Amino acid sequence: MLDAGCGTGNYTIELARHMAHVTAFDMNDAMLGEARVKVHAAGLGQNVEFRSGQLLDLPFAAADFDMVMFNQVLHHLEPLNEVGFNNHLHAINEAARVLRRGGVVLINTCSKAQIADGYWYYSLAPNARSRCLERTIGSSAFMKTKLTCYLAFAV
Ligand SMILES: C[S@@+](CC[C@H](N)C(=O)[O-])C[C@H]1O[C@@H](n2cnc3c(N)ncnc32)[C@H](O)[C@@H]1O
Repeated sequence: MLDAGCGTGNYTIELARHMAHVTAFDMNDAMLGEARVKVHAAGLGQNVEFRSGQLLDLPFAAADFDMVMFNQVLHHLEPLNEVGFNNHLHAINEAARVLRRGGVVLINTCSKAQIADGYWYYSLAPNARSRCLERTIGSSAFMKTKLTCYLAFAV
């Protein structure tokens, strides 16, 4: 499976306890370095491959994975333009490309309400709240329909 945006590998480790092949993927090499240390400390190094790169341009062949997980990742993507949230769709499209037929995409992300009320640092950074809200997956019917279509295509 592909842990897309693995960060420091907390979920990579738990997944690698149950799966023989987990790819820990992130654009941040410092995060990946930390993940590598933790995975090896847990004795799971043989189950995990570490790869660096961009979610929007995954360096993997088509149908390479049985599962792609975005855990607390998609709301970090910048929206591409005023029309919607094309970077989210682009990332999901990439997940669909690298997923074998019948595979699974798992998305855990923050809702608008959680982002609107959830962070202690908003009072310190006046633009932080609106910038964070821009990055959530849209709640419009348009986005829901389109996202559902992309997910249906992926699996
Ligand atoms: C909040 S952390 C989540 C880490 C991990 N999935 C977890 O739940 O513990 C978000 C991670 O996504 C990565 N990320 C954000 N945008 C990315 C992108 N465009 N390409 C690759 N990784 C990205 C960040 O570097 C960061 O490590």
